[in-house]
Amino acid sequence: MTDPNVGSHDVLAPLAESPVIGLLGGTGDQGLGLAYRWSGAGISVMIGSRDAKRAAQAASSLPGSASGDSNLAVAEACDIAVIAVPWAGHADLISALPQELAGKIVIDCVNPLGFDKRGAFALPVPEGSAAEQAQQLLPDSVVVGAFHNVSSVLLKDESLAEVATDTLVLGDVKEATDEVQRLAAMIPGMRGVFGGRLRNSSQIEALTANLISINRRYKAHAGIRITDVN
Ligand SMILES: NC(=O)c1ccc[n+]([C@@H]2O[C@H](COP(=O)([O-])OP(=O)(O)OC[C@H]3O[C@@H](n4cnc5c(N)ncnc54)[C@H](OP(=O)(O)O)[C@@H]3O)[C@@H](O)[C@H]2O)c1
Repeated sequence: MTDPNVGSHDVLAPLAESPVIGLLGGTGDQGLGLAYRWSGAGISVMIGSRDAKRAAQAASSLPGSASGDSNLAVAEACDIAVIAVPWAGHADLISALPQELAGKIVIDCVNPLGFDKRGAFALPVPEGSAAEQAQQLLPDSVVVGAFHNVSSVLLKDESLAEVATDTLVLGDVKEATDEVQRLAAMIPGMRGVFGGRLRNSSQIEALTANLISINRRYKAHAGIRITDVN
């Protein structure tokens, strides 16, 4: 990162006491799964979509305070945004929203993966990782990588009271990574563990390809646990 002000603490607006979380691409498995857990924990969530009606419909399935609108309207109205679209739509979605997301924490859970007959594999990303691409496209936001290795099947499973896993939280601004660790801990069973600076995101994104291989071999929904950290 050449410009020291890109994604620095200075661009971050004061954090809201009870932030509204906007999930861009929130009609999909991962966004809706996170929204289900957070709205169940008393956090207000907004579902974003390319189609406001589809977003409203998805939001109506959630417990607690939830609404739906276009990705643009949600990006503007939320306090903290989560990017939860497929890698193919990542750059286009984000590059349309720099003003709406300015001053905010933007959580990126996107894994740039390809799939072929042999399974999942990590795709090369010119910026280093999806999270670093987001930070470059959003110079006035603070991007934090998290929830890459968390299974949407578990998040969405209403029969599970807890999602028993760790998630690595990566970023360059401690106030922002602390806040995302706090939001991870709001999901029963989950723990957010600081995992390094944003430049260390690519291997965490790529690790999801290994987890998908594990899931296929063992018929599981595998996650990660970090040992010796309380
Ligand atoms: N699924 C998981 O278990 C999991 C776990 C960890 C991380 N992730 C990451 O989370 C992200 C979302 O995963 P997902 O499984 O929820 O994906 P998904 O269901 O395929 O897509 C999520 C939503 O993104 C929107 N979308 C689809 N293509 C788009 C495009 N080209 N441009 C903009 N929006 C588009 C769609 O919403 P609208 O049509 O309503 O706009 C869709 O409902 C991925 O990057 C994935 O790597 C997923």
